[in-house]
Amino acid sequence: MTALIVNSDNEKNKRYELNKDVMHIGRDVEDGIKISGQGISRVHAEVFKKGDSYFIKDLNSTNGTMVNEKKIVEEMLKNGDVIQIGSVTIEVTGFSEAARKQARKPEPAIEFEATDEQDKKSSTIELKLDESLEKSSAPEKVGQEIESRDLLTLYKISKTIGIEKNSSTLLNKVLEQLVNILDAEHGYVFLRSTDSPKITGKLIPKAVIHKSGANAKVSNTIIKRTLQFSRAILTTDAGRDSRFTASESIVINKIRSVICAPLVSSGNTIGVIYLHSGRISAILTQEDLELVTSAAIQLGIAISNIRAHETARKTFINTLKILLTALEMHNPELQGHSERVANYSIAIAKELHLNENEIQNIYISALLHDIGKLAVPCSKSESPKEHEEHVYRGEKMLANMEGFSEFLPGIKYHHEKENGTGFPYKLKGGSIPLMAKIITVANAFDNLSSYTKSEMENVPLKQILLDMVKNSADEYDEKVIQAILMAYKNNSLFTTKNPFDLLW
Ligand SMILES: [Fe+2]
Repeated sequence: MTALIVNSDNEKNKRYELNKDVMHIGRDVEDGIKISGQGISRVHAEVFKKGDSYFIKDLNSTNGTMVNEKKIVEEMLKNGDVIQIGSVTIEVTGFSEAARKQARKPEPAIEFEATDEQDKKSSTIELKLDESLEKSSAPEKVGQEIESRDLLTLYKISKTIGIEKNSSTLLNKVLEQLVNILDAEHGYVFLRSTDSPKITGKLIPKAVIHKSGANAKVSNTIIKRTLQFSRAILTTDAGRDSRFTASESIVINKIRSVICAPLVSSGNTIGVIYLHSGRISAILTQEDLELVTSAAIQLGIAISNIRAHETARKTFINTLKILLTALEMHNPELQGHSERVANYSIAIAKELHLNENEIQNIYISALLHDIGKLAVPCSKSESPKEHEEHVYRGEKMLANMEGFSEFLPGIKYHHEKENGTGFPYKLKGGSIPLMAKIITVANAFDNLSSYTKSEMENVPLKQILLDMVKNSADEYDEKVIQAILMAYKNNSLFTTKNPFDLLW
């Protein structure tokens, strides 16, 4: 929980949890953070929440509000910031991305460990992965109706795997297809928290569907066995199975019908697909087991491919960030600028409903938009001609780099204006690519709101945006300027996440 730690003459390390969207600070506030000391107004400032971020705003106090020794009107807060209100010092603490991610998880992880359980004969059917492949190519074992159902389902799943590049969406779509075709009540895709060949650790639910009731009915015993022997399991009445009757989870939850199939990636069992049906009318069958096992084989291969692709992309982004660190060391005034512009750009792009690929290209282009500054001397008093040079240099750095052409428009044209008075190419509205228009607006907003621009430091963010709207006809594309305003209003401007974050 994010909190403010107040230190004054009267209070030492007094903790106030930020548990409301707006909390007032002052010497005379009834329901907020009441502080006393020198130079404090009756209602001095307010802390408010936008999305995942907290901001502080001075409420026209007599002596002003300072954040990290700088007078502010409105400022985004981060972990470790020190607020000074009169003689009172307030420290910001408790921002925890990990804690927030944990809190958002709708289903608990499952702890599991390997057992020495031996294979025994029972009413439960187990299927090795290679057996499944053989069975699915033996049509005489199944009726024609089932066969065409399975072929159609596997075709649809293959199609989904071919289209979906987002791992989370892929898992959800495949699970949904299986739950629907088998009329199951609950469906899960669990992935292990590590890739270690040793089957221990946690299973994280990555896709969950409950068609009836909210109660999850998961048998740890069945999942452990599936993981340990990498075999698909079908149990039509688990209570009668000699291996599972001792398991409390099965007895208590009265599981009637469960299929659990292993997901295998690069030879390792990385998780399971788990389907449950509690209705007599929808008992899962051996044919269903073969279908789910075949789907699990396809999904395991798809997961391997997506993981390799996402790891490569993450390495690429990290390499770009090394370049940005070099840029910031060369020109300290640019500290954090490229990353902020990239985040604002994707918030705008999402408001404009661009697709995932376009959003990723815009993010990379925005990260690199000022990369040409690495190749010009750092100067606080450069002429307009010298300022233009960074655009040419950036273009030259990337122009002959294979695979970078998609990002060039944002680097070449991020200083162009709608009326043609920008630089260096003096393009007009319609001829400026949308990617560049978006980065131009994000870049202008960051320049105007950045603490490095001292002449603007007392102007609230909302006012900066409204001033940009006023100038939109001459400088900015109208739909892009409306998009940044919407992103500010709906709290996504400061909270939009890097589109390359790994989803596993
Ligand atoms: Fe620039």
